[in-house]
Amino acid sequence: MRLGVVILAAGQGTRMKSDLPKVLHRIAGRPLLGHVVDCARALAAVEIVVVYGHGGERVREAFADQPDLRWVEQAEQLGTGHAVQQAMPALRESEQLLVLYGDVPLTRPETLQDLITATGHSGFGLLTVTLPDPTGYGRIVRNAGGCVQRIVEQKDATAEELAIDEVNTGILCAPRERLAGWLGGLSNSNAQGEYYLTDVIGMAVADGFDIQVRQPAAAVEAEGVNNRVQLAALERAHQRRVAERLMTAGVTLRDPARLDVRGRIEHGRDCEIDVNVLIEGEVRLGDRVRIGANCVLRDVEIGDDVEILDNCVLEQAKVGSASKVGPFARLRPGAELIGGAHIGNFVEIKKSVVGRGSKVNHLSYIGDTEIGAGVNIGAGTITCNYDGANKHKTIISDHAFIGSNTALVAPVTVGVNATIGAGSVIGKDAPDDKLTLTRAKQVSISWQRPTNKK
Ligand code: UD1
Ligand code: CA
Repeated sequence: MRLGVVILAAGQGTRMKSDLPKVLHRIAGRPLLGHVVDCARALAAVEIVVVYGHGGERVREAFADQPDLRWVEQAEQLGTGHAVQQAMPALRESEQLLVLYGDVPLTRPETLQDLITATGHSGFGLLTVTLPDPTGYGRIVRNAGGCVQRIVEQKDATAEELAIDEVNTGILCAPRERLAGWLGGLSNSNAQGEYYLTDVIGMAVADGFDIQVRQPAAAVEAEGVNNRVQLAALERAHQRRVAERLMTAGVTLRDPARLDVRGRIEHGRDCEIDVNVLIEGEVRLGDRVRIGANCVLRDVEIGDDVEILDNCVLEQAKVGSASKVGPFARLRPGAELIGGAHIGNFVEIKKSVVGRGSKVNHLSYIGDTEIGAGVNIGAGTITCNYDGANKHKTIISDHAFIGSNTALVAPVTVGVNATIGAGSVIGKDAPDDKLTLTRAKQVSISWQRPTNKK
């Protein structure tokens, strides 16, 4: 069946009190509208139309990487029925049309697939939800036989209708051509003076349709964002869902409420993640990876048996198997640990390779450097990679030992098995196997320490 999707996103979002169009506010680092578009794609929609209004240009720009999306402007917001009607000329290929909302980000594709399946090629489907407090929503009016007859909006409802606790989520699925016909017959003679999309249900019933109703597994799937309190609530609901998925897939989370995933995480078996961890972009964990508390991992690849200790920030970095990083380490873009490396506290590594089994344990900056295997970098070692204009490379060969507080002034090469004496400033290449050091002679002088003059 060829499915088309219309996403209504013309609302002003006044209650966000924001200069940013509402549908560009983010959940899990992605615009609200992005979640809805992803969902439409998961349903293999053949055409997707977004109805925009307020801030439309900015919304379109934010989705410039998805040129197949179609955009329709609804200049005046005359109601949900009017909005869908605006989209009709942009829809050509689909048999069934699904209506979604740009500010309802957590509807699961599974829920919608269930609705679409129930609706078939030519039926009418409606997603409803039963709420303890239905205030504000359109109510689902059923007949004595339990069949849906129509929807009545809160402001148009009688006292008896207001008592109904089954409400309209707004999401529906209907044959495109029939829907176009019903929309053409809408009137705005109601309490809000709007063209209600909900009125098409009564019309479909009058035309002999049997409305197929489905409900989502959780009410949160139908919840919209109108203000920042709701935005935060849906963020938490989304994160809870991601956390549950990870735990179900075999990841131990010390506290599922204290993990945030803004992107995608892949993992092997028996990974453990401690509290307050933030995952961004594309993150891959091997088997038995342990992530300590308060770590940020942004676009990183981590091998098997790696331990990232507390308070580390890793970005665009690769950590080879059996390495140990942190606590308080920073791996910046282009940092690559081949494997079995130890990176300790207050160490910053940028655009550098650290060879197998090498150690940088304390208080160092390593930039634009190639470190071989089995190297030991002493505390406080700094690669002076920048001359104020250009960056230069440092090469530290296999089994070199760099004494503490060494400055390696790039470009410079330290040879295989070379030793650098502590406190040296190394500006020329240090040969293999030798001890190289630059150090003022230590002298001891008899003297009188100054005293206070009264
Ligand atoms: C609508 C439904 C109501 C349902 C509720 C669920 C109608 C008439 N009522 O009510 O039955 O219970 O949603 O949340 O459909 N929009 C446009 N253009 C417009 C009007 C709205 O794009 O001209 C978009 C808004 O951006 C929003 C969505 O449609 O995303 C819903 O509009 P809103 O005004 O919030 O509808 P409700 O009154 O809440
Ligand atoms: Ca609403």
